[in-house]
Amino acid sequence: MGLFKKKLKQEHKIMLQAERAAGALLPEYHRATPECPHPERWHMYDSMTAEAEVLEFLRTLVTTLKPTLIVETGSFLGVSTLWMAEGLAANGFGKIISCEFDPVVFARAQEKIAASPFAPFIELRNESSLEMTVGGAIDIFFSDSDVDIRAAEVERFLPQIRPTGLILMHDASSHMKTVRDAAFALEAKGLVSCIVLPTPRGLVLAQRREGRR
Ligand SMILES: C[S@@+](CC[C@H](N)C(=O)[O-])C[C@H]1O[C@@H](n2cnc3c(N)ncnc32)[C@H](O)[C@@H]1O
Repeated sequence: MGLFKKKLKQEHKIMLQAERAAGALLPEYHRATPECPHPERWHMYDSMTAEAEVLEFLRTLVTTLKPTLIVETGSFLGVSTLWMAEGLAANGFGKIISCEFDPVVFARAQEKIAASPFAPFIELRNESSLEMTVGGAIDIFFSDSDVDIRAAEVERFLPQIRPTGLILMHDASSHMKTVRDAAFALEAKGLVSCIVLPTPRGLVLAQRREGRR
């Protein structure tokens, strides 16, 4: 319980820092890894929100794949949600369901999304990824919640993810080994095939093996 409380406080602290920074871009400050020796070449808004270049990549994936349904776990302030929703708006259809289980963080994300022109494409839920249910087939699943539950949430939603769909697991650098190992464990079980993009925080792109032709 002590650890859990500390973690929530950290999220609230970063939330306040992000609000003070008011959208200013900073050099990425996650430490260098063998696969990404120059993290400072990337940019970030804050240390919770995905790297700015990863946000651009997410939007481009959405315009490239034309998804009907995106599911995101871990909205934080809704920044990655909004970038993907911008892609949906460019496509003219589709929906992103994003869940954030911390009620304080959720309330801030909700305000931000309500003020955005992309709000009609977004369904924000104040619930845990391990309890949330969604209907229909998922085209893009972006796993970005608590690092310790990423494997569990991917496995939970796997039957609903289209074999042609894409699974993304953020924070999979060799420094933050938990998510990287979780992705490799899913691969070793024969559930997915992965590639790991060497961004500062690491991004796994995976696809279901079952149903692949
Ligand atoms: C890394 S941040 C998400 C960043 C966001 N996707 C972005 O790039 O803008 C992780 C968030 O996941 C939330 N979280 C942690 N465990 C969760 C769970 N089981 N279900 C939903 N959200 C969770 C945390 O409160 C935190 O706000």
